[in-house]
Amino acid sequence: MRVGVVGTGYVGLVVGACLAETGNDVVCADVSEEKIATLRRNEIPIYEPGLEPLVVRNQRDGRLTFTTDVGAAVEASQVVFIAVGTPPGEDGSADLQHVLAVARMIGDHMNTPKVVITKSTVPVGTAVKVRSAIAERTTTPFWVCSNPEFLKEGAAVDDFLRPDRVVVGVDAPEAAAMLEELYAPYVRTGAPLIFMDIASAEMTKYAANAMLATRISFMNQIAELCERVGADVSLVRKGIGTDPRIGSAFLFPGPGYGGSCFPKDVQALVRTGDNHGVSLDVLKAVESVNTRQKQRMFAKVRAALDGKLAGRRIAVWGLAFKAETDDMRESPSIALIEGLLAAGATVVAHDPHAHETARLVFGNRIGYSDHAYGALTGADALAVVTEWNEFRNPDFGRIKAALAQPVIVDGRNLYDPTKLRALGFRYFGIGRGEGL
Ligand SMILES: NC(=O)c1ccc[n+]([C@@H]2O[C@H](COP(=O)([O-])OP(=O)(O)OC[C@H]3O[C@@H](n4cnc5c(N)ncnc54)[C@H](O)[C@@H]3O)[C@@H](O)[C@H]2O)c1
Repeated sequence: MRVGVVGTGYVGLVVGACLAETGNDVVCADVSEEKIATLRRNEIPIYEPGLEPLVVRNQRDGRLTFTTDVGAAVEASQVVFIAVGTPPGEDGSADLQHVLAVARMIGDHMNTPKVVITKSTVPVGTAVKVRSAIAERTTTPFWVCSNPEFLKEGAAVDDFLRPDRVVVGVDAPEAAAMLEELYAPYVRTGAPLIFMDIASAEMTKYAANAMLATRISFMNQIAELCERVGADVSLVRKGIGTDPRIGSAFLFPGPGYGGSCFPKDVQALVRTGDNHGVSLDVLKAVESVNTRQKQRMFAKVRAALDGKLAGRRIAVWGLAFKAETDDMRESPSIALIEGLLAAGATVVAHDPHAHETARLVFGNRIGYSDHAYGALTGADALAVVTEWNEFRNPDFGRIKAALAQPVIVDGRNLYDPTKLRALGFRYFGIGRGEGL
């Protein structure tokens, strides 16, 4: 099938490369000339495990091409995915300007009948807007459908090639048939291809992210209470996660959720609710708990150093909002580091893949160490923010020797408190009874 993907970011690039992998002819279009030039050189502008070989192979074999000419990409395609960003607007609602700009572009280049698929996360009612933006510009028949993306950064390729489910919102059999054909290779092993009406598909994506964010904020509050009452949230997590009605996924407390999706999608859903007279109080609490949680990591470091941060040096392990990505959007490291800098501390950080993206946030206001242990030299505390594998089982003797004070604030509960205290560290995790 001839497929166009408009927007070549975390989602569009993965979608395009994975669709080319099953034999489709895919053209990925983006307005960023730099991004397209980089991709044409077989360089991947983001860190996403497993993506590079797919891009290289499919580009070499001619099934995957990159262009800045969005109109040409539309004209060359039977199916066009809209995968541009939907950042939060000033009031928290999803800003649809990029989606609608692409819809107008599609309308202007509707040379043959096409199926237009919204991949971007968009509020209920967006398909209607996309449809009318296109219809204003063409008399050629077309079908609009919603196909929200559930991939996780860091495991995106695998998530697309082997999805748990694919959700498709359609209102025409022509579109359903096209989507069924396109997704057949990915659902052969029995993952459901779930067809529904368009509004329900649009809502499904927000409901999924809101539920996951809710679990995180819930556990972060339980963790806070554990600290006050002397319980260990890691044990509580095991105790509840083994209940099949609850399940064990997404029960890890931490420094607060970040990334390009949960914060903005929770906000956008709250805004949709308000606009329709439904106050989504649960989600309003989820959001405010998360904002607080991001500050708690800073408060923990400050308390661990007896409230004295001016002139102190803090080592930070992990900058990306989660492991296996270089995405800094809404990363909890930002609240922590900005707090430390404002309090007069200096920060030296190490992240295995996010230095380049972090520089766009912090510039030269912090130091970047190419090596995890290099960040520790002379530091008054180590704060662990991102759960990269390389931080999970470090040489604690080396850490202790490098630090000026043996203080670890473990925002991901990677380490065993008993073991670390026996090694002479002052150790503070999240929700592990130590009351910071
Ligand atoms: N990142 C994720 O993990 C994830 C997961 C599921 C869904 N989503 C959703 O997918 C959408 C895209 O997210 P992302 O993280 O890939 O965003 P991104 O910011 O990484 O990429 C968006 C791309 O669209 C391009 N673009 C913007 N306007 C354009 C236009 N008019 N024509 C062509 N290209 C244009 C930008 O240059 C950019 O490269 C969002 O709605 C997001 O909520 C993201």
